[in-house]
This record gives sequence, structure tokens and C-alpha cells, in this order.
Amino acid sequence: MVDRSLSARSLEVLLGDWRGRGSAYEALADRIRLLIVDGRIPVETRLPAERDLAERLGLSRTTVAAAYRRLRELDHLHSVRGSGSVARLPGAPAILPASFESEYLDFSKAAPPALPWLPDLARQAAEDLPAHLGDSGYDPVGILPLREAIADRYTRRGLPTSPDQIMVTIGAQHAIALVARTVIARGDRALIEMPTYPHAYEALRGAGARLVGSPVVPHAAGAGAAARVDADREEAASLVQSIRHSNPVLAYLMPDFQNPTGRTLSRESRARVLDAAARQGTVVIADETIAELDIDRAEAFPPMAADGPAVLIGSVGKTIWGGLRIGWIRADRPLIRRLLAVRAPGDLGTPILDQLLVTRGLERMDDILDLRREQLRAGRDLVERRVAELVPEWHVPHVDGGIVTWIGLDAPVSSQLVLAARQEGLIVTAGPRFGIDGAFERFLRVPICQPLEATDAALQALARAWRSLGGVPLGAPDPELLASVV
Ligand SMILES: Cc1ncc(COP(=O)(O)O)c(C=O)c1O
Repeated sequence: MVDRSLSARSLEVLLGDWRGRGSAYEALADRIRLLIVDGRIPVETRLPAERDLAERLGLSRTTVAAAYRRLRELDHLHSVRGSGSVARLPGAPAILPASFESEYLDFSKAAPPALPWLPDLARQAAEDLPAHLGDSGYDPVGILPLREAIADRYTRRGLPTSPDQIMVTIGAQHAIALVARTVIARGDRALIEMPTYPHAYEALRGAGARLVGSPVVPHAAGAGAAARVDADREEAASLVQSIRHSNPVLAYLMPDFQNPTGRTLSRESRARVLDAAARQGTVVIADETIAELDIDRAEAFPPMAADGPAVLIGSVGKTIWGGLRIGWIRADRPLIRRLLAVRAPGDLGTPILDQLLVTRGLERMDDILDLRREQLRAGRDLVERRVAELVPEWHVPHVDGGIVTWIGLDAPVSSQLVLAARQEGLIVTAGPRFGIDGAFERFLRVPICQPLEATDAALQALARAWRSLGGVPLGAPDPELLASVV
């Protein structure tokens, strides 16, 4: 059953600058196909009528009809009686089947493989299990030993925390969606960074929020300390202004190694933003899922709630393994109580065995972070070196931590490049997926956390895809545009 539709205007925004060198109908079909493949147009969404889209884009109806026909041939559109043309993925499932996925290098996920000593932790967890088998096992708040371990880590990082301020969740994504459902009422405004982590804004939207964006302000690579301070202040000023003017009920921020740009907000800026939010009654969610993945950052940062009121979200997805699906929320006790009430209709608790495993893992967190630091350093250095060799016209900002880098392409061709990369056996996510209005065509997010051999192969595939685009204007990079997010 089709329950969502896209207006011609919304599709125009998503399309961004879609025209390529070939015929208009092919370029339009290609861009819509990408939007469907990468989830910006969800499967089962009804596309605008041909006439409306033609009018909106200033095209002939024949051109749009030809594009839709092409999409039907490719099995990306199907006609539903009374509902017009509806987006679909060939072979139906919205998630790629494993057999399909395995033929591709998947760089759409910025997540490292599991910790090598995970099986040892699992064996220890199995030994710890009998002590927990006497009760029902339905656990919406988290087992005490794990909440103690999480609270203890916050305390040691400079934020005194007690176990009853912690709720264990099924990963950070679950935590974001749960806080969103608890705080947001339909039509409320929610502030996000631009660009941002897409599944977070999807969760906020899913809870009924109207999104307001505030730009992540970059500093050019190699910029001096003064330029960095200016960029950081500008970003904080924009966040403060958005909070004052839009009065959002919630602001979703990634203060450390922001995904996808890698930038870190200074402590002074954190305090300014949290102060403005507190005055306005805006709940700040600080997603610290990747905050401890420091490679060589000059300064150590405590959790954001050390600088003012903030709900913190954490996870072991990028440290131990995403396959464990363990995350958490740190909040004041009244909010934890509200979260518990909202949680039950969606799920009845976090698996006990995985919690025991993570409890064991947290005992060795310093070793884990040492290992991840070395892996990320090697990944970052490889990406910087190989891109300079393979596609010197791209601009790779030097990140000092986190799991990705936000490469500045030399032209607004991210979506085209991503389609071409598929032909080369690589799945990677186009820049606009990280925004809400079709921006960021000049950027590509490239993970630095995947195994080195795969990363090298991915970069070679990207370089081939780039060359296959041919005719891309290779003029000098436009520093203003590059500077807008890196
Ligand atoms: C910033 C950020 N938040 C949350 C998540 C989701 O984490 P989890 O796997 O714990 O649900 C990710 C995963 O990519 C992420 O990058």
C-alpha cells in the first residue's frame, strides 16, 4: 500500500543539479534511480505526475515520460492503479540481498570489522550468563553491571555519572529514535547539523519533526590556528542563532569527529550552544557514538554534558562491533523514566547476552581504543596518500579522528560518481544523502575504518569511476565551495 508521495517541488530539491552531458531523459532517469537506490526516495514512494514534474523542471512532458519509461524498464518504477508511478528496487527488497552485496565492495557503511578478540569476550559473557537466568530476561533499562561500567567510564572521562542516569538501548540508532519519540510532538521543530548523519534526521522526521539545518563550518586543510578558531566560532554562532530563531524542541549534534565532516566543536562553542539551548528549553542530544575514536587530536574532550545540559548517546558499534547492537542514553532520571514509558510499545528490552559481552568489553576499553586508533590512523593515511596519487584534483581534509573523511570533489558530480562507481563494483554514498535539500553534490564521504586492502580497492574503483565520467570540468577547485563544509 502506497502511503507517501513526493511533490514535484520536493523531487526538484532532491534532484539538485542533475543534468549531465548525455540526453536529458537519461540524466533524469539516472538521478532518480540513484535517489531510489540510496534511500533518499524511499521504496513505495509515489513520484509526481509527469505533467507536474515537466512543468516544475521546465522540461517537455515527452522528456519526463521517457525518463519514467526508462525507470520502468530498469524496474525502478512500477505503476499502481490509481497511484501513478511508484519507486521500487529491482528484485524488490529495500535491503540488498547478501548474494548481491557480496559481489560489491560496500563503502556505504562507515563501520570497522569486529574486534579480533570478540570471541574471547563472548566466551566470558557465556560464563557470566547463569547469574542472570533466574529472572524473565526482559530488560528495558539495562543490567546493573553494564550501567555501572558505562557510568564509571563517563566519570573517569570527567563527567560524574551514576548508573540510574543510564539506559541501555539496542544501538545508538535506537537511542536517537527513542529520545526523538519521547521529546518531539508532530510539527515541532528539530535542529540538525548540515551535513549530518542521515539515519538521525530520518528518526527525527519519523517522530514528526520539521527539520531546521545549521551549517557545519569547516576550516580549510592546513589552516592556521586562527582560521580554525574563526570557523569554530562561526559554527557556534549559527547554532545559537538557529536555536534562538527557530526555537526547536530538540537539537541533534555530533560534537566530536562529526559524521561526515570529521570536525570537532571546541569546548567554548559547546558551552555557548548548550547555554542558548537551556535558555530556550531545547533538548540537546549529543551523539557521541564516535567521540572516543581519537587518532591524534591535540586536546582531550570530556563528554559534552560536562559543558552544560545535554542528553548523551553512546554505542559500542564503532569500537567493539556494530553487530552487537548495544548503545545507551545518559540523561537525568526524570527523562529516563519517560523514555522507559515510551519504549515498551516498540521493544521490550535489550538482549542480556550482548549486554554481558559489552560489560566485559568495557573493562578493556583503553586497549580497544589503542587498537582502533592505529587502524584509523593507517586508514586515514592511506586515503590521503592514495587519493593524492590517483585523483590529485580531489581535496581530502586532514581528519584527526572519527571514521570517515569528507572528500571535496572538483565538481558537483557526487551522485553521478556514485552511479559510475557501482559499475566498478563499489557501493558508496553520495554527498547529498547527508543533507536534506540536495546540497553537497561536491562531496563524497569515504570511510577510513575499513580494512586497508578493501580501502585501496575502493579508491581505485572510485578513480576509474571518476575517469569514466569523462569531460568533468577539471578547473582549479573552487575554494569557497570546498570550504563550505570540510
Ligand atoms: C553518528 C552515528 N550515530 C549513530 C550511529 C548508529 O550506531 P549504532 O550502530 O550503535 O546504532 C552511527 C552509525 O553509523 C553513527 O555514525
